[in-house]
Amino acid sequence: MKKIVIDGGHTLSGTISIGGAKNSAVALIPAALLADGVSTIKNVPNITDRDALFDIVKHLNCDIEQNDSEIKIDTTNLKNILITQELSVRLRASYYFMGVLLGKYKRVEIYFPGGCNIGSRPIDLHLKGFKALGAKFTKRGHKYTIKATELHGADITLDFASVGATINIMFAAVYAKGRTVIHNAAKEVEIINIMDFLNQMGAKISGAGTDTIIIDGVTELHGTEIKVIPDRIEAGTYILMGALLGKDLKVSGIIPEHNGALFEKLTKMGVDFKIEDNIVTMNKTDHLKPIDVTTLVYPGFPTDLGQPMSVVLTQAEGVSTMEETIWENRVGHYPYLVKMGANIEVDKLKATIHGKTKLHGTEIHATDLRGGAALILAGLIADGTTSIFDIDYILRGYENIINKLTSVGAKIKIEEI
Ligand code: UD1
Repeated sequence: MKKIVIDGGHTLSGTISIGGAKNSAVALIPAALLADGVSTIKNVPNITDRDALFDIVKHLNCDIEQNDSEIKIDTTNLKNILITQELSVRLRASYYFMGVLLGKYKRVEIYFPGGCNIGSRPIDLHLKGFKALGAKFTKRGHKYTIKATELHGADITLDFASVGATINIMFAAVYAKGRTVIHNAAKEVEIINIMDFLNQMGAKISGAGTDTIIIDGVTELHGTEIKVIPDRIEAGTYILMGALLGKDLKVSGIIPEHNGALFEKLTKMGVDFKIEDNIVTMNKTDHLKPIDVTTLVYPGFPTDLGQPMSVVLTQAEGVSTMEETIWENRVGHYPYLVKMGANIEVDKLKATIHGKTKLHGTEIHATDLRGGAALILAGLIADGTTSIFDIDYILRGYENIINKLTSVGAKIKIEEI
């Protein structure tokens, strides 16, 4: 077991480089299995979710060659066998193997995927999409068997613009006969990255990044090369840290438009930041204005930055609100912020945050990935020492977070317990 120990109050100066997007990489790795032959994925972040996916890819008898952040996946010997519970529970994104294997082999057997405890996380929209394409599924305990004699194009309207369901339906439809249209598709930028990868393999997909995606089925896909886009959530997390602790802190390698909703809120708060090309320079601002934030699907304010943002709101002068609308359980970090000295009332998914309050170091627990990142930010601004337990959640999705923060002046380390 490990914990993160932070000595708070240190200014952050220098440059933090942003890695590849977790939410793209965890779909691109399974997507490589749709192609025959070798695919190369560049800029893959070094996170434990990546390793969990590698284990599934190897279990399916594919070869992986890794050279820093560049990986090659060879599907020549792929075997479409049961993905065991032990493998699938390690991350939510294991559900992408459903669409990929169903699409390629018309059959998949997999246990229900795991992931962060941020809500009930159903997959009904994924299954509805597969059904519309001609598949049937049976469920025994946690084991799903999804199969089809033939997959055919369909008109599918999602009840909610789910990121996972949109991508999974693209995967299943890519080899289906005829045209599939996904209406009310999720518009997240990661989906464009996935479309580009599939199209370079030989797929015929258009519309990713809009709410209507069209997939014309093909009969073969070949290995190709893709680069993972920068992680807008990792970038957003360090940008928020810079808003409270930066002294010319540069967050580099970003695509500024991908963080448009965040920059809009920072401007309203009066945060001192400057964007030049793919670098944003952050400076600590003494008098932050309170604001209201509601998380929304892209291009709205991302749910994955709601928790780190709530820590910034504890430092605004006045009453702010943070309302979560996507997940049912993204409030686990609030009791720990209160324990550290924040003044927050939580009513279901809406937090009313009274600032500005000093935060004090204490012992706290990460309850999920982004909540864990929020607690790191709280520890960095707190007086004294903060110890964060259950840090595996954080390491799932932030690459080299300790080294990146240490390199810009934070006093943060991992200790064995
Ligand atoms: C992805 C991201 C996650 C982000 C989320 C919303 C990945 C690996 N993860 O998660 O970081 O927080 O998008 O931006 O990309 N839902 C259903 N039925 C379904 C599917 C989803 O009801 O079949 C609901 C969920 O319970 C949730 C909402 O839809 O309330 C959003 O889920 P979805 O967009 O699918 O999130 P993920 O793709 O799992």
